[in-house]
Amino acid sequence: MNENLIAPSILSADFARLGEEVDNVLAAGADMVHFDVMDNHYVPNLTIGPLVCEALRKHGVEAPIDVHLMIRPVDRIIPDFAAAGATYITFHPEASEHVDRTLQLIQGEGCKSGLVFNPATPLTHLQHVMDKVDMVLLMSVNPGFSGQSFLSSALDKLREARKLIDASGRDIRLEIDGGVKVDNIGQIHAAGADTFVAGSAIFGAGRAEDPHTYDSVIGAMREVLAGSGC
Ligand code: DX5
Ligand code: ZN
Repeated sequence: MNENLIAPSILSADFARLGEEVDNVLAAGADMVHFDVMDNHYVPNLTIGPLVCEALRKHGVEAPIDVHLMIRPVDRIIPDFAAAGATYITFHPEASEHVDRTLQLIQGEGCKSGLVFNPATPLTHLQHVMDKVDMVLLMSVNPGFSGQSFLSSALDKLREARKLIDASGRDIRLEIDGGVKVDNIGQIHAAGADTFVAGSAIFGAGRAEDPHTYDSVIGAMREVLAGSGC
């Protein structure tokens, strides 16, 4: 298994002081910045694009940026995110006419690629493209908003995805996104996830004025992860 990574979703950050918020979660021990891109079309919400990703890089953020595209179409914007400093670019297979081409496009731009599975989307989309995937991201909520409750059906799906990844013998991260908290991260890890997105659990625990709260939530998550080997 890969080392565990904690990826705070900036969807729950204070956007008026985004650079500082990202600095604070990274200083508190986060490994990666989860960057939710929504278009009011594929999902019913509208968020941020490549300019904001670039601004974080210019601000000095060196940690990996994990761009989760909840947009349709996807291909046109991928080179822009690559140029803006994205590390991972993941997308939903339903949002691309040509999944294999989109995966190739992402890797061809020098980024790591990933497929995202909604709660009702079967893992069969992985067939035939496993060799072009660096990350499998399972949604444990329906995409569009932070602060929703974890759907327990994701646990069986994680076990299924873990088997597929292990059988492939490839170095592929298994990420979970939606409703991840200190009190469920242990069972999520035991089900096979190695990369944990958390928005409201981390940013909701305190505001930028008191970044120490980020240390305590991230620290508590790490403590659970350390004790819940699988
Ligand atoms: C939902 C987003 C998530 C969201 C997670 O569509 O993809 O990344 O911000 O937020 P929480 O952790 O609050 O469920
Ligand atoms: Zn996300």
